[in-house]
Formats: sequence, C-alpha cells, structure tokens
Amino acid sequence: MTSTIITRIHEASGPDPRSPIGVFDSGVGGLTVVRALMERLPFESIHYFGDTARVPYGVKSVQTIAHYTTQIAEFLLEKRVKVLIIACNTMAAVAAQVVRDLSPTPVLDVIEAGALSALAATHTRRIGVIGTPTTINSNAYARAIHNLSPDARLTSQACALLVPLVEEGWLDHPVTRMTAQEYLKPVLAEKVDSLVLGCTHYPLLKPLLQDVVGPDIQLVDSAEAMAEQTADLLTELHLHNPDRTPPDYHFWVTDVPLRFQTIGERFLGRTLSNVHVVAW
Ligand code: DGL
Repeated sequence: MTSTIITRIHEASGPDPRSPIGVFDSGVGGLTVVRALMERLPFESIHYFGDTARVPYGVKSVQTIAHYTTQIAEFLLEKRVKVLIIACNTMAAVAAQVVRDLSPTPVLDVIEAGALSALAATHTRRIGVIGTPTTINSNAYARAIHNLSPDARLTSQACALLVPLVEEGWLDHPVTRMTAQEYLKPVLAEKVDSLVLGCTHYPLLKPLLQDVVGPDIQLVDSAEAMAEQTADLLTELHLHNPDRTPPDYHFWVTDVPLRFQTIGERFLGRTLSNVHVVAW
C-alpha cells in the first residue's frame, strides 16, 4: 500500500485509541524500548518490527537506512498503529524526517526523547553521548540538544564494538569493561556530568557503564525517556487505550536468526511469543 493511501485511511477516521502502538528498530535492540513501554503503559498493545535480516544499520549509509526505514514505517502504518516510535537511534538520527513526512499518525523518536532527558539530568550542561558510528557522525544528538539549549557542551563518542558485545551476552565481561573504558576515556576527560546511552543496546550495559564512569555521572536511558514521552503524548492526544484488558503484543521480523529467542528475551526481560516472519 502506498503512503498516500495510508494517509487517506487515517485522515478519514483519525487515530483510534484502541489501536496498537508501532515500534521499530533495525533488529532486536528496540526491545529495550518495548520493555520500557510495557512497564510504563501496561494496557497498550504493541506491534514491533525488527529488521533482523538487515541489521546492523549503525555502519550503513544514510540512503540505505532511509530506504529501509520507509519500508518498515509503511508496513506498520498498514497495521493502523496510532503512534509510530522510532526506537533505533541510528534510524532516528538519519531518517526521522522521512518517517514524519510519510506518516499520518504522530511520530516519536529516541533522539528527541534522549535529548530532553539529558537536559533534565545535567547540572553543568556538559553532556556525553555514545552511539553507533552512523548516529555519532550524523550529529543528530548535538543538533537536538543545541536546539533546546544552545549553551550545552557535548562530547560524542562512537562505540562500534558495544553492539556485538551486548548481542554476545557479555554484559558483565572483562572484555566489555575494557572496551567501555577505552571508548569513554575522552568523554570522561571532558568532565561531563551526564551520559546519554544513544543506542538501543546500551541500556543492557547500564550497571557496567555506571561502574566505569563512576557514581557522579548520570546515565540517560533513552528507552525509559521514550516510554515517558509516549505516555505524555497519549495523554495530550486522548489516545490512551480505554480498555483495561491484557494487551496484544506482536513481533514482526525479517529473519529469525539463531539465538533470536535468547537475545530477544534478554532485551525484553520476559518470554518472547507471537513472532512473525515478514518475507520481503
Ligand atoms: N538499533 C541500533 C541503534 O540504536 C543499533 C544496532 C544497529 O547498528 O543496527 O543505533
């Protein structure tokens, strides 16, 4: 279905409060956002899309990411979602506008949410951001933070190795600790007082990262920030599901790789069922 037809369907009726929330990511990582949403909004149904066949996005070009992102957003809009959430920092960094241009329903993204939370957390306005190479090279966090607070001082660091280490399950492993220490050296040298975890995978490393940066630096979890922003949006637009019945969760993926269940359940913190493979 083209985005024009989708727009007409939504315009005719407006978003339905009983419709699900659509969340998408390059793979399983966005389940950290789903987990935060399940905890914050326990009566909302969710359709999650993870592009497991084409992950990782963090090292791909802007054109490729924009193309994949459009496909995924259109897929979820066909499911008549009431809100679209870009859970992937990399997609949010380079393709958020593409999604906003085609979507008739409100679009939220992790970068916006993370930027707001970082500014709420910092006292000194010295903020650190870590993410994939594409996210960091896009300067999207710097733009989002400077738009809100031009005097904020940002130190960014790409941490390409952290995604594979998390997927390996090395959440508290000496190799991960050494890698994080190495990446964070230049960030710590700038005396930041808050650190944005600008990648879906990093919330799983929170205890290790807190250890590495010390107790005086506040970690900003963009997944939690996203859930909070979604709750505010649903309130503002009167889109909370009025039914107090158990919600439906569906997980759409483009491939079911080996260990998908294990990794997915680690991210979600609960059993993963209703997994459907989309044949593209
Ligand atoms: N989901 C991506 C992000 O948040 C990390 C995985 C990837 O590179 O695709 O940036």
